[in-house]
Amino acid sequence: MSDRFDRAAAELLALPDDELFARGDAACRAAFSDAVHVRGLIEASNACVRACAYCGIGRGNAGLPRYRLSDAEILGAARRGREAGLSSFVVQGAEDPEFGPLRLARLGEALRRELGGEVALTLSFGTMRRDDYAGLKAAGWDRYLLRFETSDPELHLALRGSPLSERLRALEDLRDLGYEVGSGFMTGLPGADEARLAADVALAARLGLDMAGIGPFIPHEATPLASAEGMGLRPALRAVAALRVLLPLANLPATTAAGSVAPDGRERSLAAGANVLMPNVGPAERKREYELYPGKICLDEDGMKCLGCLGLRVASVGKRLDFGRGDSPAYLARTGQEATA
Ligand code: 5AD
Ligand code: FES
Repeated sequence: MSDRFDRAAAELLALPDDELFARGDAACRAAFSDAVHVRGLIEASNACVRACAYCGIGRGNAGLPRYRLSDAEILGAARRGREAGLSSFVVQGAEDPEFGPLRLARLGEALRRELGGEVALTLSFGTMRRDDYAGLKAAGWDRYLLRFETSDPELHLALRGSPLSERLRALEDLRDLGYEVGSGFMTGLPGADEARLAADVALAARLGLDMAGIGPFIPHEATPLASAEGMGLRPALRAVAALRVLLPLANLPATTAAGSVAPDGRERSLAAGANVLMPNVGPAERKREYELYPGKICLDEDGMKCLGCLGLRVASVGKRLDFGRGDSPAYLARTGQEATA
C-alpha cells in the first residue's frame, strides 16, 4: 500500500540526477539562502554494548581500543568550540551503560552552566525510555538524533537485533516531549535498490523530521558486513536532494560518511540540498577510535582546524558557514515559533 509520500519520493527519484540535484539545491537556497549551519560534534564514547551488523564500534570488534571521554573532556571540547564561535553542539555516543540517562542529565546541566542558555544542545545516545528522554529535556538537552537506519522492518531487525517499531516509537516520544527531532538512514545497505531508497526517503518525509542525516553505508572489515559492497555516494546524494524537496524546512547535514566515500562528497551534498556540517570538535587523539566505518576523514585534524577548511569547502559551492544555533525552521513552524536571525 503506497501513500502520497511513497509516490512523491518515487517521482523525484525517477528524475535525471542533474534535475533532481537542481531541485534540491533550489529548495535549499529558498529556505536557507547560502547558510551552512555548523554543529560541533563530540564523540563521547565508543564502548558500545550493541552489535549492529554495519557498525565498526559494535561490541564484536575486539581489535578496537575503547574510550570514554570524561565529563571534563566533553566540557572542555564544548568550551573550545564556543570560543571558536560555535553555538550548536552534538554529543554522540555508543550505547554505553556508563553514559546512562542520569549521567547525561548531569552533563546537560553542566554544559548549560558552561555555555549558557543560548546554545543548542543535541544528544545522540540511542533508544531510551520515554521518562529518560523527558528527564534529559528538563536537564537542558533540546534536540535529539536517532536514525531509523533503514525503513525495511526485516532488514532493520536483522541488522540491529531490535525492531524498527521500537525506533519509531522513540522518535514519537521525542517529538511529543518537545525535542527538535532528527533521524535519517544509510543508503547502500545490503540488498539496496531503487524501491528501498524511495521507501527510506518516504519514511523520513512521513515522519515530518526536523533534521535528517543521510549517509552512504561503508563496509567495515571487523563487522559481519565486511564483504558487503557499499554503493558509493550517488544514492545518498539523490536521497538528500529528494528529501530536501519533500522537507524543505528540515536541517539536512552533508555527512562525514559522504565526505569519506568521495573527497568532494560533502560539497556535492551541499550542492544538492544539504545545509549543515558537523565537524568533530572532540579530542583529536580519540577520533580514530570512533571508527564507525573505514576511511573516516579529518582524523588527524584538530577540530578547530576543520572550521577553516570547511569555510573554503562551502565557498566552493557558493555557500558560507553560519555559526548561529541553526534552529530547524521545520521545528519552529510546527511549534508555532518565529525564526530568529
Ligand atoms: N557506514 C556508514 N555509516 C555508518 N553508521 C554506522 N556504521 C556505519 C557504516 N559502516 C552511521 C549510522 C549511525 C551513525 C552514527 O553512523 O547511521 O546512526
Ligand atoms: Fe576537517 Fe577539512 S573538514 S580537515
